[in-house]
Amino acid sequence: MKFFVDTGDINDIRDLASTGLLDGVTTNPSLIAKSGKQFLPLIKEICDVVSGPVSAEVAATDYDTMIREGRKLAGIAENVCVKVPLTPAGLKVCKELSDEGTQVNVTLCFSAAQAILAAKAGATFISPFVGRLDDIGQDGMQLISDIVTIYGNYPEWNTEVLVASVRHPMHIVDAAMMGAHVVTCPPDVIKKLYSHPLTDKGLAAFVEDWKKTGQSIL
Ligand code: G3P
Repeated sequence: MKFFVDTGDINDIRDLASTGLLDGVTTNPSLIAKSGKQFLPLIKEICDVVSGPVSAEVAATDYDTMIREGRKLAGIAENVCVKVPLTPAGLKVCKELSDEGTQVNVTLCFSAAQAILAAKAGATFISPFVGRLDDIGQDGMQLISDIVTIYGNYPEWNTEVLVASVRHPMHIVDAAMMGAHVVTCPPDVIKKLYSHPLTDKGLAAFVEDWKKTGQSIL
């Protein structure tokens, strides 16, 4: 399973990239606004740090502007993945950019029906938002399970399931159990994956016991 980080914070991206565990980055207009940075130079900076796909989202909602924005974003770096909304115009842009060899992430997916359309449009990634479904009392992870099953029925579809709107470590564990290809997570959720109180307790005991031996490895 690939790990993407969902942020526009370049310091967090550098930090996570240094772990060697980071496979890509996703951004969206809300995250760019939060970063306070200029969008295009920020995407270039991220692409210089991370070699995997870096999702950069179009701002327009009409086909003509979206396709122009998408081509401009794709020109920033080889690893830019253009993010488009799951609308009729967005999927038309998806098909066209995919045919041109550009990676496309179709975002704001909330149903299996929408995910089928994205695969038909040649999306590189489909981004179902699990946390936002949970927020309205629907089962976000059930949607992931459904899409993984559906895509598995059609090996000719190459679209990867990118679990988005991740809120806690169990979303990631469940996504792995279901065979989702990618999770994109806020930095704090990735950091939580490391934590277990028995790890901390066990390490403290090993450190203390090692001191008692009076030895040094180096
Ligand atoms: O980037 C898309 C998605 O991950 C957003 O998540 O937390 O705003 O629902 P969230």
